[in-house]
Amino acid sequence: MRPLKPNIFYVGAVDWDRRMFDELIPLPDGTTYNAYLIKGSNKVALLDTVDPSKVDTLMGNLVSLGVDHIDYIISHHAEQDHSGSIPDLLVLYPQAKVVTNPKCRDMLMDLLHIEPDKFETIEDGQTLSLGDKTLKFIYTPWVHWPETMCSYLVEDRILFSCDFFGSHLATSNLFVDDEERTVEDAKRYYAEIMMPFRSQIQKNLDKLAPLAIDMIAPSHGPVYPRPALIVEAYRDWIGDRVKNEVVVAYVSMHDSTRLMVEHLVHELTDKGLKVIQFNLAGADIGKLAISMVDAATIVIGAPTVLVGPHPVAANAAVLVNALRPKTRFVGVIGSYGWAGKMVDQFKTLLGNLKAEFLEPVLAKGLPRDEDYHKLDALAERIHQSHQQMKLTQ
Ligand code: FEO
Repeated sequence: MRPLKPNIFYVGAVDWDRRMFDELIPLPDGTTYNAYLIKGSNKVALLDTVDPSKVDTLMGNLVSLGVDHIDYIISHHAEQDHSGSIPDLLVLYPQAKVVTNPKCRDMLMDLLHIEPDKFETIEDGQTLSLGDKTLKFIYTPWVHWPETMCSYLVEDRILFSCDFFGSHLATSNLFVDDEERTVEDAKRYYAEIMMPFRSQIQKNLDKLAPLAIDMIAPSHGPVYPRPALIVEAYRDWIGDRVKNEVVVAYVSMHDSTRLMVEHLVHELTDKGLKVIQFNLAGADIGKLAISMVDAATIVIGAPTVLVGPHPVAANAAVLVNALRPKTRFVGVIGSYGWAGKMVDQFKTLLGNLKAEFLEPVLAKGLPRDEDYHKLDALAERIHQSHQQMKLTQ
């Protein structure tokens, strides 16, 4: 198997074909479930396992390495794409202890029915000696579950970060070979599950800052031989700075909303703003999430259906609300046939956002000149607001 360094091996699995995660998140580039084996002079540790669908790959890798004994299975995170093969591993290596924090232990007992006597719990900052190698455990909660933690291999200066810094990128390369693509996939992952936890991630980054890290080995995607690449990207994403960008996400049934969206996007573009337009009918919500990491303004466009917003747009609003982007301004535009409560319902659906709601623009049926004038005013308002904030792209 492929070594990161002497006696430190990659034993995980590449999932080239996976296209959805949690039946919600598109994975256009597949993913990997990374597990690492560390052979110390006295003890052998396996860091995380793999998704249960790939347990045969993990076991085959361990057999290839001649691993007949595992002392510790380190579990950084209870979600099943990393922990789900632990029960099978415990059958193969019955002497192994599952090493994790108390919160993760409790979750593993609930999620996988692992018996309590299989665990050894550790505290934040505690170390575990493997002989000539030492693991130091660092709690990094809320990336993206409450029990998440990292391990730092002291002598080799490797941070094993699990989901933190990960990317959904299936690749046969152990190490990052295309920095731009890896960061884009890492941004997608951050946007989809970590964006709501920006302040906690800031604390975790500060906590890791004193460590001398030569390599970051996450549990999804390739290993970073240049840790600054992903650490600096995270600092940018979690920072308060927004960019001179407008996300316009819409759905249209009979073209009224589409015409309004096209007019608004034309006006914004004319004013020099970067616009990212999504037709929500069939959009990749991962791309929508990525676009919301930086955008100063989000505009949702929808027709009225049964008094409220079109359900596809309402669904997107639920997602935006859950991801809690740092966007500063929110606009609602759309159309109605006779009456509706679309704007009020959007305000409720987007209640988590700390953003200013701009004056909505609603057209009765096909937009008229007066509606286009209101869209012009909305574009100008967005432009002025961005200028006052001195935003750049
Ligand atoms: Fe990769 Fe949160 O699991």
